[in-house]
Amino acid sequence: MLDNLGDLRRTYSCGELRAEHVGQTVTLMGWVARRRDFGPLTFFDLRDRDGLTQVVFNEETARNAHAKAKEVRGEYVIAVTGEVVARAEGQRNPKLATGEVEVQARELLLLNTARTLPFQLEVASSDAMASEDVRLKYRYLDLRRPQLQANLRLRAKVVAAERRFLDEQGFTEIETPILIKSTPEGARDYVVPSRLHHGKFYALPQSPQLFKQLCMIAGLDRYYQIARCFRDEDLRADRQPEFTQLDVEMSFPSLEQVYALVEGLFAHVFRDALDVELTVPFPRLSYAEALRRYGSDKPDLRFEMELQDLAPALQGTTFVPFVSALEAGGEVKGLVVKGGAKWSRKQLDELQEIVKRYGAGALAWIKLGDELSSSLLKALGDEGVKRIAETAGAEQGDAVLIIAGNADTVAASLGALRNEVARREKLIPASVFKPLWVTEFPMYEYHEEDGRYYAKHHPFTSPLDEDLSLLERAMTNNETHLLGQIRAKAYDTVINGIEVAGGSIRIHRRDVQRLVFQSLGMTEETARARFGFFLDALEFGTPPHGGIASGIERTLMALAQTDNIRDVMAFPKTASAADLMIDAPGTIDGQQLNELHIRIVEEE
Ligand code: AMO
Repeated sequence: MLDNLGDLRRTYSCGELRAEHVGQTVTLMGWVARRRDFGPLTFFDLRDRDGLTQVVFNEETARNAHAKAKEVRGEYVIAVTGEVVARAEGQRNPKLATGEVEVQARELLLLNTARTLPFQLEVASSDAMASEDVRLKYRYLDLRRPQLQANLRLRAKVVAAERRFLDEQGFTEIETPILIKSTPEGARDYVVPSRLHHGKFYALPQSPQLFKQLCMIAGLDRYYQIARCFRDEDLRADRQPEFTQLDVEMSFPSLEQVYALVEGLFAHVFRDALDVELTVPFPRLSYAEALRRYGSDKPDLRFEMELQDLAPALQGTTFVPFVSALEAGGEVKGLVVKGGAKWSRKQLDELQEIVKRYGAGALAWIKLGDELSSSLLKALGDEGVKRIAETAGAEQGDAVLIIAGNADTVAASLGALRNEVARREKLIPASVFKPLWVTEFPMYEYHEEDGRYYAKHHPFTSPLDEDLSLLERAMTNNETHLLGQIRAKAYDTVINGIEVAGGSIRIHRRDVQRLVFQSLGMTEETARARFGFFLDALEFGTPPHGGIASGIERTLMALAQTDNIRDVMAFPKTASAADLMIDAPGTIDGQQLNELHIRIVEEE
């Protein structure tokens, strides 16, 4: 039989009681996290969002409550009234905030029962955790775990701090529509069929990019929004199909103003949420330099280990993989692993798998152990190998990991190795935060598959002033290869190897926007059909403007020091964009389909 709550009120949460409360009569409510029976004594750990409190039912002093407690199972919801008492000397629990006291129960109300949970909430280690699919199906149960709750509270705190900061800086929070038209930004759109407009579709925004630019054209000057974004793209550990951005735009900004604003914002958020002081201004690396030194446009600066150019050690070499890489304009670069000479062959072989994923042919290595050993000894001899080790800056006891190939492959594979080695060698200090700017991104990236250039950021990003003439030349003289050399006024904020924000100064001139659309292979008609409203708007006095969007989840991943984006969202989707709890996406019935003028074609 369940009890009614009636007028009974909680007097404390389950995380609040301390020695100073001893002697008080209190009422707690929550879930039974664990129960232990010792004859006439029954112990519960009672849990709510604030913590755990030990409750004791004594058969001799509270017979009824004790009898009732016998019926209670894990995750039942109860209310307990009783007296706070100090725990005996050896029974205090210093790991628990309430560990000095316990509640001697006088009364127990059984507010609800619970089925046996499909998985245990308390596990000894993350390895012992139930599979993620089961946890996602019962997400509301997984969310009972204190760590996830702490992450969600941290998230709310971060968003509140961001709002506060931007409000104080004179930004206006403006909502932009969710049902819009496709404005491609690299990913596929999620589309919504229209009932009233036969055969037509809305698209969900990949970001509010054009709307925030239109706000600047409207003269609103300083805009922000906590904006939900939707992207139908391949998912990874740091990507979700719907996610949230703190989206910001300002009129008449210099690059320096944007940097200062964002640095102020992140400093404020880290101070408010973690009591951590970020050092401002953030260091800046151009995209080219970030790739050259770290093999990544989002380098983790919590550890050193820079990429070393080994070409100077290879003059006169005849080793074919190196020679052909260099002759084709590629690179031979390496990483020095401090103390890496102790690595076994097996450990080195595991790294081969990683570099292959990034398109590298093979990983060459040198170990400066008691004996010189290297995969290159046969090809280059003792002298050749030593010269490479010396050029790399390796010392006795170190290892050098070497990749040859085109610049992109070398950067990507050594960049990935750099992170992996740091993880394995435990070079990454906990609770250290290293922000930086990566600037001067290339305006375009070339896709081999269809042999054309795409916007690296999005087509509304302005080229660097000094590179504008390259764009003009590329388009007037049809020298498309020049596009690859154009740099953009685009920047990312990176913290601990996570891209937490990205933005740019925008194109505000109609003629430049036309050139950029043209450079992306859009005819005047296509551009008008897709972006006519925006091209029109550009002709009505568009101020210079620019901004940035910061991924809320990414920011939280940095703050909470997790590499799984699902840890910082309440109801995330799986890697195949499914919600296992509500079973979405789902089918809709025939009538709904008819109203939407949609017929499903069965797959062959
Ligand atoms: P961008 O596409 O770089 O820029 O996105 C900005 C930031 O949003 C976060 N982010 C994501 N987070 C989780 N899951 C995803 N699938 C995902 N995709 C992006 C990242 C990223 O840095 N309109 C431009 C911004 C601008 O130019 O102002 C834009 O959306 O943290």
